[in-house]
Amino acid sequence: MDTSLLSPKSQCHRVHVTLGIRSYSIIIGPKAMEEVVFADHISGRRLMVVTNEIVERLYFENIAQNLKEFQVDKVVLPDGEKIKTLDGLNVILSALLEGGHDRTTTVVALGGGVIGDIAGFAAAVYQRGIDFLQIPTTLLAQVDSAVGGKTGVNHALGKNMIGAFHQPSIVIADTMTLKTLPKREFAAGLSEVIKYGLIGDRCFFDWIEKNLDGLLAHDSNLLTYAIRVSCQIKASIVSKDETEQGQRAILNFGHTFGHAIETFLQYRDWVHGEAIAVGMLMAMKLSVLQGGISETDFDRLKVMLKRCGLPTSPPILMTAQDFNLIMMRDKKVIDGQLRLVILQTLGLATVSTEYGDSNLQKVLSVHCTAQ
Ligand code: NAD
Ligand code: GLY
Repeated sequence: MDTSLLSPKSQCHRVHVTLGIRSYSIIIGPKAMEEVVFADHISGRRLMVVTNEIVERLYFENIAQNLKEFQVDKVVLPDGEKIKTLDGLNVILSALLEGGHDRTTTVVALGGGVIGDIAGFAAAVYQRGIDFLQIPTTLLAQVDSAVGGKTGVNHALGKNMIGAFHQPSIVIADTMTLKTLPKREFAAGLSEVIKYGLIGDRCFFDWIEKNLDGLLAHDSNLLTYAIRVSCQIKASIVSKDETEQGQRAILNFGHTFGHAIETFLQYRDWVHGEAIAVGMLMAMKLSVLQGGISETDFDRLKVMLKRCGLPTSPPILMTAQDFNLIMMRDKKVIDGQLRLVILQTLGLATVSTEYGDSNLQKVLSVHCTAQ
């Protein structure tokens, strides 16, 4: 691994996202925020830090210490998904305009996936696009949302319906920030880590299973390794298919079922990673019925999710009909045919329309207790 940006004593690692002139590094490890020399990645003198009220209290001072040579402004948004709207976006754009920021300003996204998505989108559209960097502070953001350049906001008629691909100039995943993350949010991030094993590397899946207790206990070396491998798998997929014309869709393993759960619950009560955990189990069952996966591997996944404290069945009142109705409105429906990500084998995913409706209905009837 190329660690040229880091001191020899560093416990941090670097993953490269290869995208021609839009290539960048992901720096992962304890105290990454303090180690990175920001001036090496920022060309202008002015920064706009976008964060929320919770993360600002916890971590703004840490990065401010490392940004003394810049003129730093900040926007502190309220916490939660509800701010990820055009109105929330407007708060950031207004702060940029009122502060007289020009195209040399860099936006710094400090927070979880909500902040990364909205701040990245602000950078994508402000004066037709300015630089931004990601400092993800949730496990989900460190392994998924901060990497790959998907930015955007929600619309009343759909989640993530307005956005742009806009790659950051660097991602700094400081694993120390995960110490303050609520347990439920940490488990939600772990479900995405498990996803990478399922879709991209069966040895990694075995490794997670073996080291799950250590990961749940926040062992720093194990966490850094898990984030590094997750980012390597995502980086390799994104490098081949930046704008999701094909293969990138496998990153959505379990997400069609999971999004149906989130929609059913109107984005209340469950966090994203919890819905994805159940969605992955359902997609795994479909893969069993298609012949790619054994019942034993399905059971292994179920046990791992339970050990993380994640749910393993849909909300009690959700019926197979609810799934059918909601899933047919999914972005992945083309010409009336729903495309689903299934596993050909453990560690190898594919986007398929060939699963057969009877198998899909069987999955729904097995998992839904309500009729
Ligand atoms: P989030 O940003 O809402 O963060 C979860 C909670 O943790 C929030 O209350 C936040 O304030 C708090 N928090 C963040 N860091 C903390 C820390 N270090 N210590 C204590 N509390 C902390 O949620 P998330 O799960 O990070 O991200 C979900 C969002 O990411 C959704 O909007 C989803 O659509 C988006 N997403 C985007 C992509 C992408 O590719 N762009 C991929 C997956 C998800
Ligand atoms: N989170 C899915 C993607 O980045 O494509």
